[in-house]
Amino acid sequence: MTTEAPLPKTVGDLRHPVELYEASLAGAAVTLRTHQGNAHPLPAAVYLAQHVPGDESMLARCTGSVLDVGCGPGRLATALTRRGVRSLGIDISHRAVSLARAAGADVLHGSIFDPLPDAGNWSTALLADGNLGIGGEPVALLARLRTLLSHQGQVLVELEPPGAGAHRLMVQLEDAAGAASAWFPWAKVGVEAIDAVAGAAGLRVVDSWSDAERWFAALSRPLGAVPDQPRSRICSNPSAVAPATTT
Ligand SMILES: C[S@@+](CC[C@H](N)C(=O)[O-])C[C@H]1O[C@@H](n2cnc3c(N)ncnc32)[C@H](O)[C@@H]1O
Repeated sequence: MTTEAPLPKTVGDLRHPVELYEASLAGAAVTLRTHQGNAHPLPAAVYLAQHVPGDESMLARCTGSVLDVGCGPGRLATALTRRGVRSLGIDISHRAVSLARAAGADVLHGSIFDPLPDAGNWSTALLADGNLGIGGEPVALLARLRTLLSHQGQVLVELEPPGAGAHRLMVQLEDAAGAASAWFPWAKVGVEAIDAVAGAAGLRVVDSWSDAERWFAALSRPLGAVPDQPRSRICSNPSAVAPATTT
């Protein structure tokens, strides 16, 4: 995986990235900038949509209980709830969590790296909309999800198009008035790179597909993998889990 170049200098006070992400959910035009100087609009309309072409191919593969990682305003978690699939969204943005709850999803406010309910018992973890980039360390993120899944559990992950390779990058959000966030790490993993990334996290690619010009893979433990230590289900009440909060 390639690593980042030196960051451009930023002038003035820097906002928290979540502040600008939330402004985009409230309708502000927000740009995502990479350290290499690329910029494109943050696609808030996609996050706020009820359905995006290609979603169904992920939703149809969801089995058992589903953890929607970085669920945003809850497009996928809500769709799962509507079809009677047990799902829990998790997101660090209060605004996203509020929107998702208002739409009918069961959602925790917190980070995927916080203690979470039912660790070791989830059937499916979803990483949609580029969320494999969360934290800038895809191997660490997948390894974390592996600890949350049951032995037969799967990660359904959306990938970058073929040819994208695998990159760690530093990104920044900026609004139309020039207010910029602190730089934060992100990552992009293309179709051809997922075997190596999954393997490094103790997972393997068991399926891959493309739909509506989106690319996806299903990951699970290798055949013959030794089961992790059994985990209890005692922590099934999200409100009992700290530091993820339900406010
Ligand atoms: C690219 S957006 C995807 C939004 C979402 N999939 C949707 O349909 O709207 C990334 C999301 O990940 C959330 N996020 C970032 N870091 C996170 C973390 N460590 N744990 C949980 N969510 C996180 C952000 O708040 C944001 O909602």
